[in-house]
Amino acid sequence: MPNLDRSTQVDRSADSINFGIGQPDFALLPHTLMRKISAVRFAEGDTELLNYGFEQGDGRFRRALAAFLSRGYGTDVRPPQLMITAGASQALSLICTFFTQPGDTVFVEEPSYFLALRILQEDHRLKIVPIPSDENGLALPAVEEALTRHRPVFLYTIPTYQNPTGRTLPYNRRQQLLALAAAHDFLIVADEVYHLLDYGKPPPPPFAAHVASGQVLSLGSFSKILAPGLRLGWVQTTPQLARRFASSGLADSGGGLNHFTSNLVRVALEEGGQKDYLDGLRRAYWQRVEAMDAALRRHINDRAVWSVPAGGFFFWLTCGDEIDTTILLKAAISAKVGFLPGSRCSSVGGLGHCLRLCFTHYDIPEIEEGIRRLGQVFTAHAG
Ligand SMILES: Cc1ncc(COP(=O)(O)O)c(C=O)c1O
Repeated sequence: MPNLDRSTQVDRSADSINFGIGQPDFALLPHTLMRKISAVRFAEGDTELLNYGFEQGDGRFRRALAAFLSRGYGTDVRPPQLMITAGASQALSLICTFFTQPGDTVFVEEPSYFLALRILQEDHRLKIVPIPSDENGLALPAVEEALTRHRPVFLYTIPTYQNPTGRTLPYNRRQQLLALAAAHDFLIVADEVYHLLDYGKPPPPPFAAHVASGQVLSLGSFSKILAPGLRLGWVQTTPQLARRFASSGLADSGGGLNHFTSNLVRVALEEGGQKDYLDGLRRAYWQRVEAMDAALRRHINDRAVWSVPAGGFFFWLTCGDEIDTTILLKAAISAKVGFLPGSRCSSVGGLGHCLRLCFTHYDIPEIEEGIRRLGQVFTAHAG
């Protein structure tokens, strides 16, 4: 009997290899580093460590984070631009709370991160207008066309190593999107949680480099570069907008949104543990990308097309139109392999011939075995 996760419908049975799980490998999580920095922090005898914190986020942590991001993004990040949150998901939800009313329109690239769709549609009752994307991400003519019919409050995009496609929006499209946002007065909510997870050539500068325009809210998180259980992320925007988040009843009542964890992670930023850990992750994940690509070429071959991701967590496979990956998944679960069907990543139930594979959760022998099983499922489905 498969053990199906309630929200994702992914199979978590021990003997199955489920590439639908979009999470890090538990064996790679930074247990040693966290143990070390917790000991350092407690040894300092800081009586404020377990108290309420500062609404916008601890000042020393924001300075350390700004320095880390300035290096990683190659652009100047300032502490007053940062509002510390309990992850990018919470940041997205807060943006909806502060900037939208139920029934408002938002633009979302198609496909997108399936749980962001839930935050927008189910939690905040927003009307989603899907914007098609191509091999290079969001299609700008489609944004322009949609703007003739709708007035969005914001456009939600994952511009770099996108979830689910792994694609990256090129520099010129970023510039065009910024120009459109200024001309039509909508916000760009750029979910940049994968930006620092490149496996070679760095991506184009993040939208975070353009927050001074007042038109951009850039989301970041330690979930992909350190550990998701820390629930630590941020919004980068103008100091005025960051203060607006900080002056909320939520941040005031809670004394900030993640005081304790940010105080531990600050040590990893200041002492270089975060950088070293991220460098190691990049090396480990790139080996998994190569292993998955080789296994796909061997076992799936011309039954789907895909690009090799240059960063992030995911391969996106486009199969023939005759394949319905929701139906294929049923056969896959019986064969003890899983994936996320494309329709789960669509706000309109489209992309039924696509599927997402996460390469970070399993080690290389499991990746090879899982793709071998998937190849058999494709063969049986065709026959
Ligand atoms: C694009 C994107 N945004 C946000 C998240 C969740 O981030 P967090 O754990 O910081 O809430 C994910 C996790 O899969 C993601 O892929």
